[in-house]
This record gives sequence, structure tokens and C-alpha cells, in this order.
Amino acid sequence: MALRNIVLENEELIRKISRPVDEITPRILTLLDDMADTMYFENRGIGIAAPQVGVLRRIFVVDVGDEHGKLEFINPEITRREGTQVFCEGCLSVPGKNADVERPAEITIKALDRNGNEFTLDADGLLAVCICHEYDHLDGILFIDKAIDGVIYEGAQS
Ligand code: NI
Repeated sequence: MALRNIVLENEELIRKISRPVDEITPRILTLLDDMADTMYFENRGIGIAAPQVGVLRRIFVVDVGDEHGKLEFINPEITRREGTQVFCEGCLSVPGKNADVERPAEITIKALDRNGNEFTLDADGLLAVCICHEYDHLDGILFIDKAIDGVIYEGAQS
């Protein structure tokens, strides 16, 4: 088990655009494992993106505690977005803040798994929220940027 330091909202790196993974090397597999360890270690972490641990690669891991368990996404692409839903979000990189954000109600996402195989997943509810949130991290976008009416709740434990 290896924990990585979380990059916070005031650090420049969190705003940068991540690059696609061109080869799934042992280093990438270690990164995936460390990201999951870090996500589970942090209180209430349900998703983590590579830039949050200082690596500008298009990778994220989510586990919203549903039947899917841990899901790993490499070079993801959201290919369908339908409807809307509002959820009060938080982020490991934005401790102590929450905000209501509007996201698609349903999505389809295509990505590579750790073996380099392409898979497609349909998601709704919290899983769709979490995937969209992590996907945004790959483009340097934070949930607070999308807070409805710019309202951010501070002092919350997240
Ligand atoms: Ni986040």
C-alpha cells in the first residue's frame, strides 16, 4: 500500500490538462494501485484522478460503493450524456468545501482497462456524477467551477 500526496486546489498543477496514456507500463499499474489506496484512505473518497496525485495522465479510479466496486478508467471518453441531476459534491483536492453541481443524469463512457482492453459502461445516479467529476479533473476543471449560482458551502467536513 502506497499513499500519494493530494494536490490541492491552490496548486497550479490541478488546473493543467492531462495527456493520454500511450502505453500501460508497470509504472501506470503502480499509479492505479496507489490512486485506489489513496482514495480509500482519505475519508469518504469515492473517486480520484491522476492529476490529484500530481500525475498529468488521463486516468481516474472510482468506487461509489455500488455493485461495480472499483472501476479504473484509462484514456476515458464520455460518448453520451442525457438528462440532468443535481448532487452536492466535494473533492479530495478541495477540502472543507461542497457545492451543488448539475451533471448529466445518464452517461456512456468508453475507456481502457488496466489490461489495455477497451470497455464501455453506462452509468446513472451517483456513479454518473462521480465519473463526470473525475473526468473534469483531466481537463483541469474543479466542481467549484460549476457550483450552481456560484454557491460554495465552506467549513463542511469532506
Ligand atoms: Ni475531485
